[in-house]
Amino acid sequence: MEIKSVLFVCLGNICRSPLGDGILRRKIKERGLQLTVDSAGTANYHIGKGPDERMVATAKKRGTDIAFLRARQFSAKDFRDFDLIYVMDKSNYSNVIRLAENEAQRNKVRLALDELFPGEEQEVPDPYYGGQDGFDHVYELMDQVTDKIILKIKN
Ligand code: 4NP
Repeated sequence: MEIKSVLFVCLGNICRSPLGDGILRRKIKERGLQLTVDSAGTANYHIGKGPDERMVATAKKRGTDIAFLRARQFSAKDFRDFDLIYVMDKSNYSNVIRLAENEAQRNKVRLALDELFPGEEQEVPDPYYGGQDGFDHVYELMDQVTDKIILKIKN
């Protein structure tokens, strides 16, 4: 299957998923590739807000701009609009899967860290209530995940 669009999903759409979104957008642009990239949250708390300032600063330090992104809530329409839906943790997974209408839609959903640790069901930890280490760690993980996604879409 040719992959034309990728959506990242977390809880608030202000930390983990906008980071994945911004890093992948940058890499797609740098490499002259074609891919629609977006992100969403399962919760409605932060709709319309920009990403968390700690995540914005962490990304900026590594040359990734995410400040322009705005939070939105995941909806069933996203199953039609996106080929792959990468969720950050198992809680996001259940919340997204609950809105799927058929097997084809369920098959689009995967844990982001399955790209690095297939079958291990690892989660991208929520950095929201922690310190700077957590934000740096999420950057490392999403940097690697987005590299894997690039390889996948080129094949
Ligand atoms: P995210 O992080 O899901 O990576 O965007 C969070 C952001 C906000 C909250 C929780 C997680 N919150 O509870 O407000």
